[in-house]
Amino acid sequence: MSQWTSAVGAAQLARLLRSQSAADPAGGRRAPAYRALADGIRLLVHEGRIPVAARLPAEREMAAALGLSRTTVASAYEALRTEGFLESRRGAGSWTAVPAGSPLPTRGLDPLPPDAADTMIDLGCAALPAPEPWLTRSVEGALAELPPYAHTHGDYPAGLPDLRQVIADRYTGRGIPTMPEQIMVTTGAMGAVAATCHLFAGQGERVAVESPSYANVLQLMREAGARLVPVAMAEGLAGWDIPAWRQVLRDAAPRMAYVVADFHNPTGAVADEDQRRRLVAAARAAGTVLVVDETMADLRFDPVPEPPRPVAAFDPAGSTVVTVGSASKAFWAGMRIGWVRAAPEIIRSLVAARAYADLGSPVLEQLSVSWLMRTGGWDAAVELRRAQARDNRDALVAAVRRHLPDWEFEVPHGGLTLWTRTGGLSGSRIAEAGVPLGVRVPSGPRFGVDGAFEGYVRLPFTVGGALAETAAARLAAAAQRVAAGAPLVGDHTRTLVA
Ligand SMILES: Cc1ncc(COP(=O)(O)O)c(C=O)c1O
Repeated sequence: MSQWTSAVGAAQLARLLRSQSAADPAGGRRAPAYRALADGIRLLVHEGRIPVAARLPAEREMAAALGLSRTTVASAYEALRTEGFLESRRGAGSWTAVPAGSPLPTRGLDPLPPDAADTMIDLGCAALPAPEPWLTRSVEGALAELPPYAHTHGDYPAGLPDLRQVIADRYTGRGIPTMPEQIMVTTGAMGAVAATCHLFAGQGERVAVESPSYANVLQLMREAGARLVPVAMAEGLAGWDIPAWRQVLRDAAPRMAYVVADFHNPTGAVADEDQRRRLVAAARAAGTVLVVDETMADLRFDPVPEPPRPVAAFDPAGSTVVTVGSASKAFWAGMRIGWVRAAPEIIRSLVAARAYADLGSPVLEQLSVSWLMRTGGWDAAVELRRAQARDNRDALVAAVRRHLPDWEFEVPHGGLTLWTRTGGLSGSRIAEAGVPLGVRVPSGPRFGVDGAFEGYVRLPFTVGGALAETAAARLAAAAQRVAAGAPLVGDHTRTLVA
């Protein structure tokens, strides 16, 4: 078992069940009480609101909290056991589970070959093509600046001094005074998260993560041997349930926590300033390093609401908050340039460990990013990006509403992802059915810890216009096949998610 085992209190479970039936009028239909309770708990597991492998209250306690008879609770638990959503050990208790054979997050990554683009719409990658002419200009600028570096050995484990300086200056410009010694340049945000995991979250360490969260980071942490402690996101774009975070940080005392506070992947939520302040305070109190991934932060495309201050503003010295940044979404993923901002001593440890990882990032790409940030090209490219992503979002939202009127989602104000409930159908089955119909889409469970979010898919703002329309039409055809119970073939587990 890769994850931490949590317990759900009877009062907490009763509150979650009540909020569920308030949000779902169909929940009021007349089913036997034991069935309604079993369905409610199953839905909470599916939606990641209670983690898999969480200990449920004893029957007697649960009955008292819900005002039901003990027989009703026992029958509900029995139904859940039969359906594979509960495991019990006599005398020890009952734990939530997902049925054997439920799709778990992928291990294999299989990018589409370029010649598949004519037949397959790939909704797996939330990344846009390069914002030309800025890529070409930045590489030309970099080439002009390359000669002095050609006389060196070219290994800069902390990053090129010029790039560290300009990244530090950008933080200072955002109101968080930063020295170049607080910056390490990495190979994308993934390189940055991998480095922090290496330092703080090795074999057996607990790491608290949002549930859902960014699929590749979850997998990276699993492979590092970390034990994931999921903390459910609140409904919609409201985001972070701070009392739940406080409880997990206090009870599980994880060495590290990982959050995407700006246009969270996959939900698109943004943490407000109060949530940021309280999250940092809770992490500090628990002695947890809070890794904040700002990969999506520049992609704000609606004027409201006001952008909150960066999470690092609540820990400017960078001893609790370690910030991760990237050129991948704001500029182009092909750069493979990211960075870490933290206290100088943390950066020194990360740099020292790098000798055994990738030694450094490519000089030419670092010069390109440095050129962009110094000349204003970065900001111009970000403007292009925002306009492109906003247009794609609007086209996608309209197309999904037209073709899939029972799919539910909140429209985010930025980022690159739409987190969509699939009208009660299995997201994994829709992903599977989509492949022969020419659409690849990542299903919800990839973004959960051990099988939650079966009723979701993630759609990226990477297609617009007629292509968004075709993508939604193909998804609707896939959903129809699933609803009709058509037998499915294909290997959906290998979609590349980024
Ligand atoms: C939150 C988040 N972090 C990291 C990444 C990967 O970033 P990079 O390409 O810089 O490694 C992504 C890509 O989708 C992301 O959404």
